[in-house]
Amino acid sequence: MREHIEQLRAVIEADLAQITNAETLEQFRLTHMVRKGTVQKLVESLRTVPVAEKPAAGSAINAFRSWVEDEFQKRKDAFEGSAGVLLVDVALPARNATRGSIHPITQTVNEIVDIFTSMGFEVADGPDVEDDTHNFEKLNFAPDHPARDMQDTFFVDSERNDLLLRTHTSSVQIRVMENMQPPIRCIMPGRVYRNEAVSARSLAEFHQVEGLYVDKGVSMADLKGTITAFAKRFYDADARFRFRTSFFPFTEPSAEVDMSCFLCKGQGCRICKHTGWLEIAGCGMVHPNVLSACGIDPEVYSGFAFGFGVERVVMMRMGIDDIRLLYQNDLRVLRQL
Ligand code: PHE
Repeated sequence: MREHIEQLRAVIEADLAQITNAETLEQFRLTHMVRKGTVQKLVESLRTVPVAEKPAAGSAINAFRSWVEDEFQKRKDAFEGSAGVLLVDVALPARNATRGSIHPITQTVNEIVDIFTSMGFEVADGPDVEDDTHNFEKLNFAPDHPARDMQDTFFVDSERNDLLLRTHTSSVQIRVMENMQPPIRCIMPGRVYRNEAVSARSLAEFHQVEGLYVDKGVSMADLKGTITAFAKRFYDADARFRFRTSFFPFTEPSAEVDMSCFLCKGQGCRICKHTGWLEIAGCGMVHPNVLSACGIDPEVYSGFAFGFGVERVVMMRMGIDDIRLLYQNDLRVLRQL
């Protein structure tokens, strides 16, 4: 019996030396410590031992079994924490480190702001909850202008119609002009709200970036130069532009800016809906009424303003055609930019 035990001890010592991870630990347990394992077989062989030798053989086997159990437990403890969680397994492949990242909308706003600040613009901010004066009145919206209608505007308090969620960042133009005298060069990124049905093309809450430049002798040529310089840096150095006449109450003249599609270079593709052109901004010369409403003399100063929707910019860059994808936090979409 003693010989038997020593033979098995040699085997087990060799196997113990092989234990390097959870897998080999389990392998050891299955070979030696289960009901049909080597140690149990040894215990059973006690039956064949002559009665006289049984007590001595029995205690030798017991001592051996506790030794095996101790050795096993020591290794098990090394691999497992108290909660049974594997702490050290040097053979496991490394886990992928997943890092958070900045949302494509914020990334895009940051890039736009960087370009304009490098051109001498400052960043200005205003409240999301606005009054009628800043969102409409001082922007030269006539009292019966349809954009004031309940259709478009979220009112904050059903009892009063002068407190609302801003429908555009142009309200910040007014706040800036009320508070500083020219020269003014500001860029105003922010969240805006419109009471619209959510669809692939529109959300009730989205982002705009507004720009404002007021000084002596600012002309439409400055407006065109600034917008094209920005768009060439941001989208495409070889882009071509066209300014289409348009209407906004707060600018005169007003224009819509189109840029040749940066993807197909004007040939026509999915992004530009096969027109070769992308609409990138609304703009115009600040209306004299707006300047005077803010205490700036339109006889002395002139200015331009422009504005565009950030979600649209991000959609064009990512090549996606459903605006809702930007708010569903699907990592496959978020990782694209
Ligand atoms: N505020 C306009 C809009 O929301 C965009 C715009 C801004 C147009 C500045 C001209 C000048 O559509």
